[in-house]
Amino acid sequence: MSELAISGRVWIGREFHEAAVILKEGRILEILPKSSVPLNVPLIDFGNNLILPGLVDVHVHLRDFEQSYKEDFSSGTKAAIAGGYTTVLTMPNTKPPISSLEMLQSAKERTKDKIFCDVGFHIGLNENPINSIKALMEGGFSIKLYPEDIMLISKDREKKEILTKEEKIFFTAHCEDLERIEANKAKIENKVENHSMIRDEIAELNGVELCLKLLKLKNLHIVHVSSSLALKRLIGESELDKKLTFEVTVHHLALTKKRVEELKGIAKTNPPLRSEEDALALRKALNEGKVTAIVTDHAPHSIEEKKLEEYDSIPSGFPGLETAIPALLTLVKLGEISLEETILALTSKPAKRFQIHNVGEIKRNSFANLTVVKQNEKWKIKSSNFLSKAKFSPFENMEVVGKVIAVFLRGEKVFEEGSILSNPKGRVIIKNWNL
Ligand code: DOR
Ligand code: ZN
Repeated sequence: MSELAISGRVWIGREFHEAAVILKEGRILEILPKSSVPLNVPLIDFGNNLILPGLVDVHVHLRDFEQSYKEDFSSGTKAAIAGGYTTVLTMPNTKPPISSLEMLQSAKERTKDKIFCDVGFHIGLNENPINSIKALMEGGFSIKLYPEDIMLISKDREKKEILTKEEKIFFTAHCEDLERIEANKAKIENKVENHSMIRDEIAELNGVELCLKLLKLKNLHIVHVSSSLALKRLIGESELDKKLTFEVTVHHLALTKKRVEELKGIAKTNPPLRSEEDALALRKALNEGKVTAIVTDHAPHSIEEKKLEEYDSIPSGFPGLETAIPALLTLVKLGEISLEETILALTSKPAKRFQIHNVGEIKRNSFANLTVVKQNEKWKIKSSNFLSKAKFSPFENMEVVGKVIAVFLRGEKVFEEGSILSNPKGRVIIKNWNL
């Protein structure tokens, strides 16, 4: 395959440089001053625009299987590419769940000729945890524990022993205390405006405490930390224990529970959107370099489901892949978050933590996955333009800055100006547990 050069403001290490990246055979061959690109190499000059490593999201829900009406591997990975993501790890709470070798195999088969970006799998907790461990060792990225799994393990010695015996296992955990949530539900009127009181910050903190107690000193990544209380606890603990990390979502950084008053069920998510103070605490932690990953928790549902009236019937979550860059760059423009820390948490930091090789950095021999962003482009979010099947958003109609204008996957331009340009060229990524 011939060489191609792409120039602009290129993210190298921890900063931008005016440079050109030479792509060859799907990899980055070298990085040069623009003036040094050989004349026989075609050059696409992106001028002042930012050239980032293809973004990495370690927490998305691509659904598929029986929930293909919400999203499937094809639509979800198109949305990823449109959002600037070239690598995603998808969650196992599918129907049926991905918690065994057979289901992992079946998921891989369903991705064939369907995925537009690279996709890896987290593994769910099977009734028999040995099945989860087997699937993990065949290339899953973590065993994902939901609040009900954490509660179950805390009450079942045998399961706990099976899971904690194996040194290598990497856990990702959603921490919320379901018993407290049930007690809150009995006391507080069950309506979506009260969602953040029902699933309150104490429920998150209790969930974190229980998880730390069960899995202390394990390789553990806590997903979507949303409150200042849980955050403080985790920062303290992770300073002592380097195997403990956490992520925050774009929506918990950018939005507050006010959005639930405005948009009702559309903005319902778990953990809930919280107060301004909570969002400020998450931004501060990001700016101090304490956040390992910013994730979208892209959680598509049908619009009919999201418009249901009854509190318990409204599913939690919303699509996020196509709004992450504008939401974050708008916070950067407002001086709320650091551009550098944001990029690190969208690229090299999650790639390193989850050992996803050859991605997340623009350096020689990495995959030629690149995302070109127009930093100051002003526009308005319209979910009707999403490539995701879920055409609604808590960011609906917001005025934002920052737009993904082109995406390269292994050297090929796969997205430009709102359109997917190629057939599905994504690959399933497998974690090698023997390294
Ligand atoms: O809001 C959420 N939606 N939180 C979760 O933990 C799950 C997710 C989903 O799968 O819809
Ligand atoms: Zn999730």
